[in-house]
Amino acid sequence: MKNIIVGFLTVLIIGLMAYTASKGRAFQGGEAGKITENVANIQKTESKATPIAQKSDREIENEKLKALRDKAGSVTTFKVSDNYKKKCASCHGAGGEGIVGLPLFGQSAEAIYTKLVEFKSGRRENAIMKGAIMNVNEADFKELSQEISEFKARAEALAK
Ligand code: HEC
Repeated sequence: MKNIIVGFLTVLIIGLMAYTASKGRAFQGGEAGKITENVANIQKTESKATPIAQKSDREIENEKLKALRDKAGSVTTFKVSDNYKKKCASCHGAGGEGIVGLPLFGQSAEAIYTKLVEFKSGRRENAIMKGAIMNVNEADFKELSQEISEFKARAEALAK
């Protein structure tokens, strides 16, 4: 008699386990798991279906700028001051094309100057940049901003 009860209970438990697994959560591979899979698939298809946005004028302008900037970086055909070479070129590239530092080529003097002040004052945080310009004075800020803003014109003058 005992054996029959034990046998019956064993079958019942195994049956319950199978049932739970079929209805279970994602990690048990049950119904919920299938739903998760479906959602994932739908998301995949949707992200693929996103239409490629038309290039805006700004993007085209940026690409032109990049091409010119890359050219500037590859040969650095135009002249830059020793001051720039010494203090900025190591990170921003011989022609302002950007290496560790962001590209400066093509930016206006005002934009560059404003950013320099922001880094120095800590309003814009970047340890590398802050360290780099810690000992660069105000006169240099103005002069270098002005010079860097002319890189594009210098490159264009040579490209002609
Ligand atoms: C040790 C490397 C290093 C040196 C040297 C350095 N920079 Fe930078 N610079 C950086 C990094 C890194 C960034 C990016 C900071 C960020 O992402 O906020 C940066 C960002 C900038 C930006 C902001 C660019 C943007 O479009 O937002 C300007 C402007 C700038 N640097 C100018 C200069 C000038 C001028 C000099 C020379 C006096 C100089 N940097 C020297 C590393 C450097």
